[in-house]
Amino acid sequence: MRVLVAYASKHGSTAEIAQSIADGIRHGLTVTTAPPVADLEFIVPTVNVWSVEDAPEPGDFDAVVIGSAVYMGRWLHSARSYLKEHANALACLPLWLFSSGPIGTMGLSDAEPADFVELRQDLAVEDHIVFGGRLDRHSLHLAEKAVLVALRTPDGDFRDWAAIAQWSRGIAASLNAGVRA
Ligand SMILES: Cc1cc2nc3c(=O)[nH]c(=O)nc-3n(C[C@H](O)[C@H](O)[C@H](O)COP(=O)(O)O)c2cc1C
Repeated sequence: MRVLVAYASKHGSTAEIAQSIADGIRHGLTVTTAPPVADLEFIVPTVNVWSVEDAPEPGDFDAVVIGSAVYMGRWLHSARSYLKEHANALACLPLWLFSSGPIGTMGLSDAEPADFVELRQDLAVEDHIVFGGRLDRHSLHLAEKAVLVALRTPDGDFRDWAAIAQWSRGIAASLNAGVRA
């Protein structure tokens, strides 16, 4: 079993979510995949984490998870491009999507990114989830700071690691069920 976790991140917090998702899936696959199948790939699953900019072809994997930070209501360009470029391969694979963004009570939308309906229309997405994000004003560019001042957005880390772990376990359970079916 080979799983690809690909992410788009500007300031690193979505990359950390992707890493945590990969750890959760790996753990779920490793502890619950019994070894009666004499196939090393099932006994030792591989879960690879890549930035979408460097990510390999999804067709080389058995399942794919793709996530992006949300900026001004949209996924980052690199993540949108990856989905579009690999739409044919992704349409044939179990695919999970996540967005990371909402910061506490900020005035920014915590709904699905605005262009999501279009992005996912040809894909059989198992699930899409929105996780809270992280804002550290010191790491932002001037233009980004200006937006946040206008919206009176507070700094903070709103990533819910328990929710991220739970979602990852669900993906592993679903993949395990598929392997046994
Ligand atoms: C200029 C700016 C615009 C943002 N716009 C949104 C938005 O529209 N919706 C949202 O949920 N979060 C928004 N955020 C919050 C980011 O998505 C959040 O900080 C995220 O964790 C950043 O991920 P990264 O560290 O991987 O880049 C915005 C943040 C900045 C700085």
